[in-house]
Amino acid sequence: MSEAATPLGTASPGLLASLDPLLREWLPRQRWFAGKGRPVTGFSPVAATELLPADARLGLYHLIVRAHQPLVPVPGAPPHPGDCYQLLIGVREALPPRLAPALIGHVTRGPLAGHTVYDALYDARPAEVLLEALRTRDRIGPLRFERDRRQEIRSGLVPRLMTAEQSNSSVVYGDTFILKLLRRIVPGDNPDLELPLALAREGCPRVPAPTAWMAAHLDGRPWILGVLQPYVQGAADGWELALRELAKGEDFTAEARALGRATAEVHTALARALPTVTLGHSALGRLVDGMLARLEEAVHAVPVLRPYAPGLRSAFTALGDLAAEGRTWTAQRVHGDLHLGQCLRSPDGEWSLIDFEGEPARPLAERRMPQPPVRDIAGMLRSFDYAAHSAATPVPGWAETCRAAYCTGYAEVAGRDPRTDPVLLRAYETDKAVYEVVYEARHRPGWLPVPLSAVRRLAVADPARSA
Ligand SMILES: Nc1ncnc2c1ncn2[C@@H]1O[C@H](COP(=O)(O)OP(=O)(O)OP(=O)(O)O)[C@@H](O)[C@H]1O
Ligand SMILES: [Mg+2]
Repeated sequence: MSEAATPLGTASPGLLASLDPLLREWLPRQRWFAGKGRPVTGFSPVAATELLPADARLGLYHLIVRAHQPLVPVPGAPPHPGDCYQLLIGVREALPPRLAPALIGHVTRGPLAGHTVYDALYDARPAEVLLEALRTRDRIGPLRFERDRRQEIRSGLVPRLMTAEQSNSSVVYGDTFILKLLRRIVPGDNPDLELPLALAREGCPRVPAPTAWMAAHLDGRPWILGVLQPYVQGAADGWELALRELAKGEDFTAEARALGRATAEVHTALARALPTVTLGHSALGRLVDGMLARLEEAVHAVPVLRPYAPGLRSAFTALGDLAAEGRTWTAQRVHGDLHLGQCLRSPDGEWSLIDFEGEPARPLAERRMPQPPVRDIAGMLRSFDYAAHSAATPVPGWAETCRAAYCTGYAEVAGRDPRTDPVLLRAYETDKAVYEVVYEARHRPGWLPVPLSAVRRLAVADPARSA
């Protein structure tokens, strides 16, 4: 059951053929399915591993499948092979009512004919199988379960699937650990494991240190499948907290400042742990060209941007001008998709940053590239703006004071205030706001005024007003 010389694991070769018609219906309905709007025309197996035999009361398969979704061919572009997904398939004679939301369907052909298959992450026993494999550092077919030997995993922790809308799936074990199973997967090092591991090596306390992780080894390459981390009990995320404080008309500047400090701690540790590079004239030229190209596409797609285009362009060309004068910047590994929702505050007030996968839609190589840390800072600054606009009763000046406090906190740890580099900050904030305009115009037109108000501010060539 392989695309190339991929090992079969221990699953029956007819397995995917029998699941195929059910998965074609089920997969596109999943929140984490990335290819929305295009039909799935078939699957090819990448790996199939039997974790519990299907002839028992409960069977369990781990599958990696490639979903075929024909694209309209673009002349000159290589054909898209289709995204790969990680599935955990449970097999039972019949589903108990509590598992109804997990139903994939009833199999009518092949080795599983007569059985019911379902998304096994909803079920306690399969989730326990994964934790047990991580605990014992098991190897099953191509699957490798690894654990930081200094961290123990107690057996008997009760699993529950998190049901929040997510681009992956997470299971919480006894409020002690959380296992994030990546759904759309690619071969190679994944920053969602790589960066927390690097931060743990540096002793950075702002990220829950990975306790264990799972990978598939196929054709000599690892595919990172999941990461187990300590669960921050009773945590609230920064977005929830900000909205709660806004609703009460309470000040959020102390938290914003703590978030700035936390971001700087993470950046400082990442710069120590992993290579940094100096961005000179040509690298900055490419960066500016990318920003300008995204702006032109956005103006084309969302004509309401047109009057602001010259001002927005100037945010990018000003950066290009500094580069032409010989100014350089340091790039390093960053979070890549930082916003209030990616920050967790424990009940004792400690902040952690989570979800280092970057923008999952971008290629892995791009997500792992060093970037100026201001990219994350710009993301957070935009997030304060979004929170302020989401308040039922607006609090005048809320976003501005939070943004300033965040930069102050950042400077306290990093030793440099992002506001002292206003051209760079404005360029990154503008790039982000332009992205948001396109996103909102496509998906949530009611939110379009939020990035548009930033666009109006950023289009004015007064970098001192950037934060
Ligand atoms: N270590 C943790 N402790 C407590 N809760 C956590 C932890 N890690 C993640 N969570 C919770 O799980 C949610 C999802 O985690 P995460 O953002 O890593 O998943 P994701 O699938 O990448 O989500 P998204 O769709 O937002 O990108 C978080 O919003 C948070 O509520
Ligand atoms: Mg994510």
